[in-house]
Amino acid sequence: MFKLNVVILAAGAGKRMRSSLPKVLHTLAGYPLLMHVTNTTRLLMPDKICVVIGHGGEVVKQSMPDSDLTWVVQEHQLGTGHALMQVQPYLDMDGSTLVLYGDVPLVSRDTLQKLIVSAHEKYCTLLTATVADPTGYGRIVRDSRTNAITAIVEQKDASAEQRNICEINTGIMLIPNIYLHEWLPSIENTNAQHEYYLTDIIAMATKQGVPVSSIQPANLWEVMGVNDKYQLAQLERIYQEEYANKLLEQGVSLADPARIDIRGKLHCGTDVKIDINCIFEGIVKLNDGVQIGANCILKNATVAAGTVIHPYSLIDGAEIGENCKIGPYARIRPGTKLLSEVHIGNFVEVKNSRIASGSKANHLSYIGDSIVGKNVNIGAGTITCNYDGANKHQTIIEDDVFVGSDTQLVAPVKIAKGSTIGAGSTITKDTSEGALTLSRAKQVSFFEWKRPTKSK
Ligand code: UD1
Ligand code: CA
Repeated sequence: MFKLNVVILAAGAGKRMRSSLPKVLHTLAGYPLLMHVTNTTRLLMPDKICVVIGHGGEVVKQSMPDSDLTWVVQEHQLGTGHALMQVQPYLDMDGSTLVLYGDVPLVSRDTLQKLIVSAHEKYCTLLTATVADPTGYGRIVRDSRTNAITAIVEQKDASAEQRNICEINTGIMLIPNIYLHEWLPSIENTNAQHEYYLTDIIAMATKQGVPVSSIQPANLWEVMGVNDKYQLAQLERIYQEEYANKLLEQGVSLADPARIDIRGKLHCGTDVKIDINCIFEGIVKLNDGVQIGANCILKNATVAAGTVIHPYSLIDGAEIGENCKIGPYARIRPGTKLLSEVHIGNFVEVKNSRIASGSKANHLSYIGDSIVGKNVNIGAGTITCNYDGANKHQTIIEDDVFVGSDTQLVAPVKIAKGSTIGAGSTITKDTSEGALTLSRAKQVSFFEWKRPTKSK
């Protein structure tokens, strides 16, 4: 069996990010750059994944608590060849090693798969790209007669003629382990930057008659690296545009594909419509016919068929049933489950509550730690007082209850089936089935009363 080792280089400081956070922990589409690379890597089912860390290494390691990663510390960043030397003891004797960069987040599984398939156990295979402006990159030097790759020359070491070469080294390569074990110890730092260049192994391959093949990525952005905030923002836009295009292809209606952000996975049924400026985080599922209004944020949520989320609503960690109407300006927090045809209107906050079919809270309410039955009407301004300053308590509202406006339900409390609560009540005791309950001072009028006037 062909063994695949993967080495992800992530020791660089990333000074140009101008940040105290290690570069590979900066996020693209909501996840650290390095996580994009490790996620793609896992799709290749490698036998081993080694990550070379250095600058802020401890922080990087702690932010990625995956047990399948072998962390290798490179104390001083003396070059990509030096980084590989640190990993050498962990590499298998046979098989091949795929070298990836922690700051090149969007390389695709397909491209890497193509690299692996085209690779031969006795070949070195490079991922190269032809670019308009090759400045800064290592250049791919080919034999003028055979066109075979003979070396990679770094910008700073390149002759004027070599600098005109537009085929560049993306840095991603697949090298048979037998050769790595042989060549790594002989890499030297006698070059313009006094660095140990991994790229020097290509000249070594040529010298030994080991063929060097190359493939190109399907898209140039796959091999674009992040060195500063500008490049990070550019890649973010590319990622979002690609994702939006995929959604359009699947038949999702997007008011504007340039104004949607997906930071995770968005699964959509048929005839889903999404208005502008929506953000989807974590795993979000929108079933058939769901409509999302402008400026909504949905995180780790499921929305069942036919539900309409009106503009400016926030939904986090919730399950929304079929044919519900949510918002505008609704806030639905973790642990919430709404059954079908529930209406949650403007400035209503729901947290850790279950609301059964046909129930409505349309205006200015807080429903927390509650179980609400079917066909309940919760009047404007009603709040569940779930917190006594130390503990949270539950409110139970049974089927067919009508809660008048501006009511406080002081938990723990149970509003029995069919109860009616008069507006402006503070309910501290359980109510009786079918009864009207209210707790309200009697309305009185004072006829002698005068409004205060301004003193001169
Ligand atoms: C490297 C390649 C160059 C290629 C370019 C693509 C070499 C000598 N040059 O150049 O041919 O065109 O990438 O972007 O390989 N890193 C470490 N430890 C080190 C040095 C680097 O882990 O000691 C990591 C960095 O964090 C980064 C990656 O390796 O993720 C590349 O390092 P960088 O300094 O950006 O390489 P370049 O000099 O740009
Ligand atoms: Ca670089």
